[in-house]
Parts: sequence; C-alpha cells; structure tokens
Amino acid sequence: METQFSLEDSPSFRMIRLDEVDSTNSYLRRLDMQDDQRPTLVTAEFQSAGRGADTNRWESERAKNLLFSLRLMPGNLPVRRMFAVSEVAALAVRDALNAFAPGFCIKWPNDIYYEDSKVAGILIENDLQGAKIRCSTIGIGINVNQRRFLSDAPNPRSLADIVGHDIERRLVLEQFMECVLQYMKSLDEGKDDVLDALHEHYKEGLYRMGEEHKFIDEMGVFCAKIIDVEQSGHIILQDAKGIRRYEFKQLKYII
Ligand code: BTN
Repeated sequence: METQFSLEDSPSFRMIRLDEVDSTNSYLRRLDMQDDQRPTLVTAEFQSAGRGADTNRWESERAKNLLFSLRLMPGNLPVRRMFAVSEVAALAVRDALNAFAPGFCIKWPNDIYYEDSKVAGILIENDLQGAKIRCSTIGIGINVNQRRFLSDAPNPRSLADIVGHDIERRLVLEQFMECVLQYMKSLDEGKDDVLDALHEHYKEGLYRMGEEHKFIDEMGVFCAKIIDVEQSGHIILQDAKGIRRYEFKQLKYII
C-alpha cells in the first residue's frame, strides 16, 4: 500500500496535533476560523471527554489509537444532501482500513465493522447557516492498537487484533486522508448526479444489507431485512408486516 499524503500544515490544509484534549470535535468547534477556509485536521493522543454518537463517551487508551476530527466547509452541498458528509467519512475510513486487511464494511449510518465487531466510529456535527452548511466537523475514532477494551461499548475490536500485529497509526491516518480527499471532490461539486453515485457506492456492501436479522425499535425486537438507505440517511427495512423507515437512533441492531 502506498500513501502519498503528507500530514504537514500547508496552504491547502491545516494540521493541529494535540497531546490531550477533552474532545477533538469540541476543540474544532471552539476554534476560531478567522476566515480560514482550509480543511483542518486535529489529532489527539488522548481525550478526557471523547464523545460517541449515541453515548457521551468514546473509550481510547492513550497513544494506542487514532482520535481525530476533520473540519470541512462543503459550501456547495445542499442541506438536503447533508447525509453525503457521513457517506464520505464512512467510505474513506472503510477504504483506509481495507488497505490493511480486506473485509471492512459500513454499518448504517457510519460505524465501521469487521465481521460483527466495531473497529471505528464517526461523530458528525454540521453547523448550518440558513440553507447552507457552514461547516461539518467529522470526528473519527479508529481502534488501531488497543487490545483490551474496558467500557461497556458493544463488540469493540482493533485493527492490530485483526491483522495480528501493531500498525503504525500515522500510516492509517495518511491512508484515510488520501481516501477522504478523493471522496470530498463529490461534496465540493455538490451536484445531484455526483452525489447520487456516491450514495450508490455507500450502499454497496453495507453491513447486513438484504439479510434477515433481528433489530430493536421503541416497540421491541423484530426480525426484518434492510432493503435500502435513502439519500436523507433514513434506513428502510422490510418485514412480514411491510416497510419500516427509521432515522438514526430510532433503530438498533441486535448483534
Ligand atoms: C461512535 O459512537 O460511534 C462515534 C465515536 C466518535 C469518536 C471520535 S474520537 C475523535 C472525535 N472526538 C470525539 O469526541 N468523538 C470523535
């Protein structure tokens, strides 16, 4: 695997390395942009208050994993296509990890799974300004070299555990940046046909797509098949009774 991306501050890209912070997402959202439109990447060795997508924590042993946030200003992306940011982030993490071991996939909406274990999580926070997205903060935690997980997070696993040896974290981050810069071109264009193609790509090989599995919603456990994800990000399931449509946090998988 060859990476060309260099993690250096440049005219087109801003890089901030932190030893410790509450949360790289919170840090970036506090950061005064002062008209600096460059994509900004913040990394940390440790987060004292790392945030998850539906919990208020993200477990990560100091200096073992990748903890970072990327701030983008997708000025051409219509708010109705906001889910494309999530698709870009998930595809880039999946592709980056697949360069180290094939078999990673996206679990709706944006967890990265290897078999039935979660290797990476993504927390996206969009700041809107009228009908435009002022900026998107994409927070990513990738379990790279941690071997033991202590929190009650369901089914965590690391890349090192999968490949059988430690991996230099910088290589994974460089691979991610290379992938994300490619996918970001679709966001920069913001055109419907380009975003439609991105969306189709996102749906290819989605975890448990088209298979009968157990899920849980506010009414309880049920058995259904994922049949689609809408451009809005809603997931569509089918069971014996008909079609079910959910937004994030309304549906949990039973794994
Ligand atoms: C999830 O729950 O699946 C999302 C986890 C996202 C964790 C990352 S770590 C870097 C960034 N900063 C945070 O506080 N959270 C995200």
